[in-house]
Amino acid sequence: MEHQSKVQTLIWDGQNLKLIDQRKLPFIKEYVVCDSYEKVGTAIKDMVVRGAPAIGVTAAYGTAIAGIQYEGSSKKEFLEFVEKAISFLAASRPTAVNLFWALKRMKEVLNENRQLEIKDIRKKLIDESEQIEIEDISINKKIGENGIEAFKNFKGKVKVLTHCNAGALATAGYGTALGVIRSLAFSGRIAHVVVDETRPYLQGARLTAWELEQEEIPFFIITDNMAAYMMSKGEVDGVVVGSDRIAPNGDSANKIGTLGVSILAKYYRIPFFIAAPLSTIDINIENGNQIPIEERDGREVREIMGRRIISEEMPVRNPSFDVTPAENISAIITERGVIKSPFDINIRKLFNNK
Ligand code: MRU
Repeated sequence: MEHQSKVQTLIWDGQNLKLIDQRKLPFIKEYVVCDSYEKVGTAIKDMVVRGAPAIGVTAAYGTAIAGIQYEGSSKKEFLEFVEKAISFLAASRPTAVNLFWALKRMKEVLNENRQLEIKDIRKKLIDESEQIEIEDISINKKIGENGIEAFKNFKGKVKVLTHCNAGALATAGYGTALGVIRSLAFSGRIAHVVVDETRPYLQGARLTAWELEQEEIPFFIITDNMAAYMMSKGEVDGVVVGSDRIAPNGDSANKIGTLGVSILAKYYRIPFFIAAPLSTIDINIENGNQIPIEERDGREVREIMGRRIISEEMPVRNPSFDVTPAENISAIITERGVIKSPFDINIRKLFNNK
């Protein structure tokens, strides 16, 4: 039977993009309607939508919306307008490479069809963004199936820890890391999921737990500093997380705190898996040091859900991502199979055979 996730992250009606407002979940389920590329870019920046593949799909629709938005009749102006929209969308968030990957695809469609009439280029942009969304869901399902292969050495039900939200909410549907967990659950293989709260933005407690609850997958939430305890007590058989950008040597950026989890997993000899589509691999860099790390507003540290916990004057830092070195990663689960060490050789091999 075909399993669908119950969460609809984005809804495209051929004209406008509706995004579930992830800042308000799990208590308020409300959609933000984007009818301009500016609204789409702002929604990505402000975390209405978040998660690497989801922001890639959203930015693709933002480009298509720019094509719809242009009301004039000059081809030159139309092309410039869409190019300006692509630059605006690219400036929304810096770390997840899926954003730039999707915008590159949209720019290619624009360039390849420059000779067509405006209405036909517009149609091509819409088709491409719809295609990116469809592909993302099927890629995630393949990642999920391959995840079962990654857990094949475990007998019976497994206890899995995840950090942040790499679920249906972080993608066009189904999820990457949570896609693996969904697939394991659908085959009766999940004992429980340990959900890291994921301070400061609480993607684990607010979003991952919400998704698991709807799927009736057993889970419990912990604060981030409880992970070592859980591992020491045998409550974690394996860790599976998503990624925002993977270097060709295997170094992987993901939500702040992932590096710490990987160090703990290594100490307790617990397998640590990254689940991500190939579009998360950035072949233009060499290693994780070259991944730009977003520093977000200090308010996210000073507050919890809008409630101040320390004074405004207190100095804080708020790096939003960290990089897990390849040596801490047991395998990378992709739609094309499970990549193992040596990552530099095996990742290049996969790209060359594409
Ligand atoms: O700041 P966010 O919420 O966009 O960060 C999201 C993550 O770090 C996810 O784990 C990552 O994008 C993978 S999502 C499939």
